[in-house]
Parts: sequence; C-alpha cells; structure tokens
Amino acid sequence: MGMPQDIDVGSHIWVGDPELAWTDGIVMNVKGTEAEVQTGDGKMLITTLSKIYPRDLESPDEGVDDMTKLSYLNEPAVLYNLATRYKINEIYTYCGNILIAVNPFQSLSHLYDDSIMQRYKGVQLGELSPHVFAIADVAYRAMINEGKSNSILVSGESGAGKTETTKMLMRYLAFLGGHAAAEGRTVEQQVLESNPVLEAFGNAKTVRNNNSSRFGKFVEIQFDRHGRISGAAIRTYLLERSRVCQISDPERNYHCFYLLCAAPLEEIQRYKLGDPKSFHYLNQSSCYELVGVNDAHDYLATRKAMDVVGISEKEQEAIFRVVAAILHLGNIAFAKGEEDSSMLQDDESKFHLQMTAELLMCDPQALEVALCERVMITPEEIIKRSLDPHGATVSRDGLAKTIYSRLFDWLVNKINVSIGQDPHSQCLIGVLDIYGFESFETNSFEQFCINFTNEKLQQHFNQHVFKMEQAEYKNEEIDWSYVEFVDNQDVLDLLEKKPGGIISLLDEACMFPKSTHETFTQKLYQTFKDHKRFVKPKLARTEFTIVHYAGEVQYQSDQFLDKNKDYVVPEHQDLLSASQCPFVAGLFPPLSEETAKSGKFSSIGSRFKLQLQQLMDILKSTEPNYIRCIKPNSELKSAVFENANVLQQLRSGGVLEAIRVKCKGYPTHRTFIEFLNRFAILAPEILEGNYDEQVACKWILEKVGVTGYQMGKTKVFLKAGQMAVLDAHKAKILGESAKVVQKHIRSHLGRKRYVCMRRSSIHIQTAWRGKLARQLYTTMKKEAAAATEIQKTFRRQVARRKYIETKSSAIVLQTGLRTMVARNEFRYMAKTKSAVIIQEKTDVCPFKEHEVVQKENELCPIIEEISSHDEGASDIDILRAKVEKLKALLLAEKKRADELEKKHAEAQELSEKRRKKLEETEKRVYQLQDSLNKLLFSMSDQFSQLKTILSSPSNKRSTSQPITRNDSSDSSDNSDASSSDSDFTFPSPVDSANISSLPPDAVQRIVKDASATETGSEDSEKEGGAFDDYF
Ligand SMILES: Nc1ncnc2c1ncn2[C@@H]1O[C@H](COP(=O)(O)OP(=O)(O)OP(=O)(O)O)[C@@H](O)[C@H]1O
Ligand SMILES: [Mg+2]
Repeated sequence: MGMPQDIDVGSHIWVGDPELAWTDGIVMNVKGTEAEVQTGDGKMLITTLSKIYPRDLESPDEGVDDMTKLSYLNEPAVLYNLATRYKINEIYTYCGNILIAVNPFQSLSHLYDDSIMQRYKGVQLGELSPHVFAIADVAYRAMINEGKSNSILVSGESGAGKTETTKMLMRYLAFLGGHAAAEGRTVEQQVLESNPVLEAFGNAKTVRNNNSSRFGKFVEIQFDRHGRISGAAIRTYLLERSRVCQISDPERNYHCFYLLCAAPLEEIQRYKLGDPKSFHYLNQSSCYELVGVNDAHDYLATRKAMDVVGISEKEQEAIFRVVAAILHLGNIAFAKGEEDSSMLQDDESKFHLQMTAELLMCDPQALEVALCERVMITPEEIIKRSLDPHGATVSRDGLAKTIYSRLFDWLVNKINVSIGQDPHSQCLIGVLDIYGFESFETNSFEQFCINFTNEKLQQHFNQHVFKMEQAEYKNEEIDWSYVEFVDNQDVLDLLEKKPGGIISLLDEACMFPKSTHETFTQKLYQTFKDHKRFVKPKLARTEFTIVHYAGEVQYQSDQFLDKNKDYVVPEHQDLLSASQCPFVAGLFPPLSEETAKSGKFSSIGSRFKLQLQQLMDILKSTEPNYIRCIKPNSELKSAVFENANVLQQLRSGGVLEAIRVKCKGYPTHRTFIEFLNRFAILAPEILEGNYDEQVACKWILEKVGVTGYQMGKTKVFLKAGQMAVLDAHKAKILGESAKVVQKHIRSHLGRKRYVCMRRSSIHIQTAWRGKLARQLYTTMKKEAAAATEIQKTFRRQVARRKYIETKSSAIVLQTGLRTMVARNEFRYMAKTKSAVIIQEKTDVCPFKEHEVVQKENELCPIIEEISSHDEGASDIDILRAKVEKLKALLLAEKKRADELEKKHAEAQELSEKRRKKLEETEKRVYQLQDSLNKLLFSMSDQFSQLKTILSSPSNKRSTSQPITRNDSSDSSDNSDASSSDSDFTFPSPVDSANISSLPPDAVQRIVKDASATETGSEDSEKEGGAFDDYF
C-alpha cells in the first residue's frame, strides 16, 4: 500500500506513532531509504521510507463514504477516514461492497426509522450514504433479480454491534418482504420477536458488552417467488454453557435468571425465588443490575415475545420453572459424608434440593442420588460409587449446564417449528451474527472454538474475495497480475485436519481415561513442533500458541478436555427423562438402546466443527455480503475513537486486505449471457444483429465508455465501480423508458377519466338545463300573463284617455260654439232691441216702447237697467249716451269674442297636437302589441320544443335532432366520437325572433315602457286636467 517512490522532501505523509498508531507529518529530508519527518505536533523523527505513507491533503473534510474513493489507499488513510466520519456520527462507510459499521454507543434513531427504510428501498448501492439497509437491499434485489440466495455475514469483536446490526438487517428484510398488517401474526413478526427471546436466554453482560450474545446465530429467512417472507430457520452455534454455573466479576449470568427474579410477586412466590444475591449461580459476581435496563419490564417483554413466537402459556410456565430449578440446584451444597461420599450440607441445601425436585417434578431422593453417586457398568457387575463433595458439585454443575443448554436448544427448536419452514422456497437470505476473533489474557476452549469459527469465515472470505477470484482470472485467461494475500488454509489444517489436527487430538485425549490436559498439550508440542502456525511458549507446560490470521493467541489447555466432553451423565438422563413434567421429560428424551449401549463419546469440538462445515456449505451456496462491525473503544463510550484498537480490528477483519486486493483485481465478473441479459438494453441494436456474445458485450462496454475491463473466455471482468457505471446508465435508460410508458398509461388513464367526467358532467348539465328550462318556462309563462295584464290595463288606460280627450275637446268645441251662438243671438237681440228703442224714440207709441222695454228686461238686465233709466228719463241725449255706452259695451263684447275665438283657435291647435300624440301612442301600443304577440308566439314555440325534448325517451336523446346552440363553432371542432355534439348543446329558439334574441329584460322593459307611457299619460292626463281647468 505504500508508495515510497512518491515520497520526497516536502511530501505530506503518515508516519507510525506509538500512541495514535498513525500521525501526520512532513518529510524534511530524505537520505537513501531513510526519511527525516516532522510530525504534526512538531516532533522530529527518522524512519524508513517503507514505513511512511503519502497523505492526501485534498481529501474532503467529512471523509469519503467509500474507502475505494480515497486517492491514497493505505492503512492510515483508511483509519483517519473512519475517524473523521465517526466524529460527525457517520458510522457507516463502504469499502467496495463491504460495509464497515462503527458502533456509535449512542442511540441514532434517526438513522433507522421507517422513512429511511423507504428511502433505501430499491436504490443502487452507493447512491445514498452508506447504510446497513443498503446492504440488505442489495442482497434482497440480487435474490429477486438473479434468483440466487444471498447471505450477509456480520462480524466483529464482542460489543462491536453485530447483534444490533443483525436486528436492523432483519427489520429491513421484514420491511421489504413483509406481509400486510391485516394478515395477523406474520412470519416476519415472529422472526423479529425471536430476538428478544433468544437474547433473554442466550445473552449476558460481559466486560466487553452489556448484552453480549453467548452463542452464534445464523438466521435463514426464506422468501416465496413474490419476494415475501415465507419461512425462517434459526441455527445457533456453541452456547457458552460454563456461564450457567460460573461467572466472573463484574459479569452476569444469562439475563433470564435476573428477569425471573424480577418477575411479578406471585411468580416469585410460586418458584420460591427472591433476591438474586441469594443464589450461588448469580452471586459469584457483584453485578446484578444493568444501567438503563429494567429486568421487571424485560421479563414482561420477554413473555410477550414468547407469545408472538408461538410459545404457549403452559410452555412458558415450564420454561421459567426450569430456570428457577437451575437457580435452586446451584444452591445445593455438599459436605463430606462417610468415607469418600458426600451429603447435603445443611437444611438450606435440603430445601433447595426439595425445591429443585419439585420444580423439575422428579423424585428428590433420586435427585440426591444422581448428584452424589455414580454407577459404573462393567461386563461383570454394576458398581455404585459415591462422589466426594467436589465430585458432587461438579455433577450438580454439569446437570445445571445440561439442563440449561437443552432448554436453549428447545427454545430455538420451538421458534423454528412455530415460525415454520417453507419447503417450496427457492431463495433465502441468511444473516450470520457470530462472535468475532477473541484474544484475552486467558484463552480457553471457548476462545479456541470462536477463533476456529473466525478462521473458517476468513477462509470463506478469502475464497470469495481472493482465491476464487484469482482462480477465475486464470481459468478465464485474462491479463492480470497476481495479488498476494494471506491464506489461512494452513491454520485451518492445523485446527481441523482429520486425523492429526488439534480437534482430532483433543477428541483422542478425551477418549483415553488417563489423559490429562498436560498429556494432551505434550502431544500437541510433539505433533506440531515444526508447524509455522503453532508455537510452544518458552517454559510452558499446558499452554500453546496459534498464529491466527488475525494475530497470535496463547491458549491455556487446562479445561480443554472437560469442556470438550459432551455427554450427559446417565443418572441425570434417567432422572429427568422420568420427570412428571412432560416439558422436562421432553428435554431429556430417552436414548436409543444402541446409543446407550455403545456409550459413544461425543465431542463438542467435533460437533462444532461439523456445524461450521454445514454453515460453510450454506454460505458457499449463497452470494455473500459482508458487514464488518468495529468497536471504537473498549470503554463502551460514545464519541471515543481509539486508533490502535480500531486498526487492530480492521486488520483482523481482513478489511484492509480486501481493499488492497479488490482495487488491484476485477471484483465484478459476469458471464457473457448474464452480462447481456442485464445490459443489452444499453445497446438495443445488438439484439437485432446476430452478434457473437463477446463482441456484443464489448460493444455495450464501448458504447458506455467503460475502459480497463477484461474479456475472459466466458465472462466479462470489470474493475471496481464499473458495474455501478453500467447500472447507472441502465437505470437512466430504464428511467426514460419508464417515463414513456408512464406517459402513455397516464394519458390513457387521463383520457378515460376525462371521458368519464365529461359523461358525468353532461348528465349533470342535462339535469340542470332541464331544471333551468322548466324554471325559465314557468317564468316566461308568468311574464306572458303579466304582459297580457299590462296590455289590458294599458289599452284600457289609452282608450280612457282618448275618450277623455275627445270628450273634453267636444265640450270645448260645444262651449265655444254655444258661446258664439249665444253671443250672436244676444248681439242680434241687443241690436234689435236697440233698434226698437231707437225706433220707439223716434216714431213709436209708448205702448210699443213699453213692449220693447219689457222684451229687453227679459233678455238682459242691462236693458232692464236702460229701461229703468228710460222710465225715469226721456231725454234723447241720455238715450244717445246709453246707445253710445251700449256701443262701447258691444265693442268690448266683440273684442272679448275675438279673444275667445283666438283662444278657441289655440285650443283647437293644442287639441290637434294631442290628437297627433295620441295617434303616435296608439301606434306604439300597436307595436308593443305586435312584439308581445311575437314573444308569446316564440314562447309557445319554445314551450312546444321543450315539451318535445322532455317527452322524448332518454335513450333516444342522442339520436334525436340536436338542438343547436347559437355558438355553433363549439360543436364543429369536437372530434371525439363518443362525445357527440348533442353532449354540449343548449336548446335555443329556431328563428331570429327568438327569445334569446330578445334581451333577457325585454319583457320587463315592455312593462316598464308601458308604465312609463302610463305615467306619461297620467302627466298628460294632468295636462288634460289643467286644460279642463283652463276651460
Ligand atoms: N447501530 C447502533 N446504534 C446504537 N447503538 C449500538 C449500535 N450498534 C451497537 N450499539 C450498542 O453497542 C452495544 C453492543 O452491541 P451488540 O450487542 O450488537 O454487540 P455484538 O457485536 O453483538 O457483541 P457480542 O459479540 O458480545 O454479542 C449494544 O448493546 C448497543 O448499546
Ligand atoms: Mg451479539
């Protein structure tokens, strides 16, 4: 990874540091292979060029989300990239397609909510920021698209976050392949709820993790052909049995013991439990409670989870009864009895023995015998042997461990049966949460098995990532250069080779009664003295060191033999299989005669080896995806990043090696057919011609512009990231095609919706228009009636006025004429009288004069006056004066008659004017009458049309003659066949003198006009009145 040739004076570099592992610096001087470096904190050091690495000054402040994007891919760059990201709570980083997850040791719930799951669904790896969901999504998509099972291998040291990561993976897979909530208790719910149950019985607080899984777990989630979860199987590996009866401070026993001690009072009393401090199996450590954990609450949660996974109430009661029995069993103490025998130490022990027997529903005496005695069957006889107190204690602990491990296996089995397997499932996704590499001060058989597991997994990793890869290059005859990697096959041979491996030698030792751990260790020294992976520590007698791929581990073989023996003491077996409790008896099914007779030795190491082999076989049949969990510090604190610690984990997890090899090789390869199936869409033209597969693949790659790939004999080999480039192109093309499809389907759906809406709107319109037409008709009918009434009144008014005018004119004329006649008559009479008077004065007798006077008196008071004067006067002058006066009077009368004549003429003129006006009004009335008639005619016509429309049957409506709208253009450009013109037409009058041509307020206007005329007539009537007055 180092590139010394790139380093010169002034180069920014990484240099080793005892505290920080790596620190930044600048090269001040280079002398041969040595460089003088000034570190960031000002120290000067001299180091060899091969031990310093170039540093990229332009790397982003927030780090890069994929290590392969680092400009200088070296150990310090990887380490500092992780540290930089961890600081800003970016806990996930890719390393190619391996995900590195650094434990945040704090809740980052925003990273895992449902919206985030939704975001990662179906998204290409690398498109969004690195996430555990992205890895699960890749596995799921690969399974759906390629029909191949996938596995996700989560590894890391204790407390690194494997179990939490596994839970996230399972949650996301349940989200992708889950069923509708309405479907009741679903498989995925059961799978998820199996976690709290298994954690209660298989997890414990250790110094490295407060919730450490003390077993390995491989969850196989089966999917049906629709990609929905159809079944699941949980396989567990190597439960740490010794913890049941032996714990070190400040660790705890399995959680379930503490949960039961915090159960509701009723249950505590039923099982005669109490403070955890009173039980030997719990009080070996001073730690009883966990910070932030409420055991009482967790007890109820576990019971609830048990309900979900399908453990019945009765079974739950039996399970916790057995857990209580183990606690009581641990409190049975033994004292020395007669000779080498042992007996119950005190009353308390007797009580606990009684309670254990009661809870396990077996005979207390038989239990005591099974704990304190052994039966040896020899061909000759059956020998009973008493155990000393130590032997009885070992026997007691053995029984406790066996019961507990059987209980755990029962739980796993029950969960599997309850969830159910899908025999038709073609694909599965396996999630492996297994202990990481361990190296402590004292490493026993458990560490040996754990490290063996990790060697196996590393080999699988190597095989997948490196070995098979390079073998493939060779087979496919591509141009490549060999990439060195550390192969751990030799360590595996050392551990598991048959015969001759450590496990085989251990089994052998266990089968020889006289073997001890010392003889076993000596045998190891002898056998592997020249093995480069086996080291005998100086002065050691029972220790041996194995050089694992992740580092050297020194094992203490003291308990290897005991821990490897996997057999149930026949007395224990007989005791419990005869239990009155079917559950307890079920944990110890009677052995087949053959097994019982043969007494064949069963070793935990060999069984574990077999289990691992099976696991490897499953993993090999799947496409693996790797998640490497990193524990940033050993204090389990958030925001603390210990460089050396992390670096060690990166090395042992094979991450650095993987990066190196990946970047040098061709991590992605696909057969030509697979490649074409996947990417032919990038160059559809190749599907038309009859091209050779290889040529077609090249064509696609060149079209996209990918370079640096290799063509094998049957496969295309792509460099890291090239697949992503191709996928991105494909996604683009598919996206565009999808848009076209969407466009069409949307337009189709839109049109369908439009047509439907239009049809509905026509229905609504029809109904509305019908209603409006009916309203209009009613209004028009009322208006017509009103118009008739108005006309009637108006005509009457006009006629009356005409009559009044004519009458008044006649009266005027009559008056004038009569006046004139009277005046003429009067004038004549006056003249005659005057003439008579004159005549009488001159030559007529008084008699005649008297007659004349009398006549005059009759005719006029003036004449009377004259005659009266006449009577008194006889003077002719007076008469003459009177004549003169009469003349003057006549003249005045004449003048007045002239004036009256003149006024009469004026009145006649006015009358003529009024007559003309009357004629005009009459004319207007006729016009109005005419309009009204037309209006009535049009209304009746419309009414008849409306009647036709309304009376015609609805199914014939479309075939009937459309009633055209005034706006004819609207219908003409409607090309939709299903939407005929009639769909949008509005009924309208036929001729130009239609109602629509009349302004809407026409009738009102007529009425108004009429009333105006009436008002006018009133005025004229008033005028007439005045005229009358005048006369
Ligand atoms: N993604 C995470 N977010 C928040 N906290 C986490 C996360 N991962 C792990 N932790 C914390 O780290 C603790 C240890 O994690 P976990 O139990 O998963 O470790 P492990 O690798 O399974 O260890 P072991 O091998 O002992 O079982 C958890 O109890 C939790 O508090
Ligand atoms: Mg765990």
